[in-house]
Amino acid sequence: LFAGETTFVKGVVAMDGLPPPDRMEVCFAGRSNVGKSTLINALTGMKALARASNTPGRTQEINFFTAGEEHYLVDLPGYGYANAPLPVVEKWQRLLKQYLSGRQTLRRAFVLIDARHGVKKVDNEIMSLLDSSAVTFQVVLTKADKVKEAEREKILTQVKDALSKHPAAYPEIVVTSSEKGWGIPTLRAII
Ligand code: GTP
Ligand code: MG
Repeated sequence: LFAGETTFVKGVVAMDGLPPPDRMEVCFAGRSNVGKSTLINALTGMKALARASNTPGRTQEINFFTAGEEHYLVDLPGYGYANAPLPVVEKWQRLLKQYLSGRQTLRRAFVLIDARHGVKKVDNEIMSLLDSSAVTFQVVLTKADKVKEAEREKILTQVKDALSKHPAAYPEIVVTSSEKGWGIPTLRAII
């Protein structure tokens, strides 16, 4: 993953619009506003690649980016509260679930959890979906710059406890701040 090596491929609004499953991909899932698009920008070193904003519900399509010749990075719409009309939200939530449970070439889902909030009910629901689809997932804590160390440790304990109930969870948690660049090289190496 190097800057300049990543390009936007397409935004997908229905399963039949997915690019052919001809290369491995990883995706970034998480509640609206958790920092998925910003993390992709930090990982690729391209500030405006994935559109980010302070409004929950910014990403409304499944966005595919190339990562080198052989991989895709996939930016997903958020789940949970979104600032968009309900029928629209329901449509993209359905698509999100279909994608997470039915994409052959999906090698790992990164489930982003806000370092201030920990694992919520909707996160557990998505993790259970990944369990039943046998998609390995790994938790990435985001916005670590917004919490003090003691608070972060408390949240980490809560997350570890939640993960112990999910067979598809990869045990290592990556703590990141896209703002400060923390954990970005580690996550790049994992990808
Ligand atoms: P949706 O597309 O709506 O689901 O949101 P998203 O998960 O893609 O979040 P996005 O990347 O748009 O970021 C949401 C807000 O959080 C933006 O205002 C970002 O600048 C901010 N943000 C993201 N990552 C960090 C971080 O590491 N630290 C801080 N302080 N802010 C962050
Ligand atoms: Mg987004």
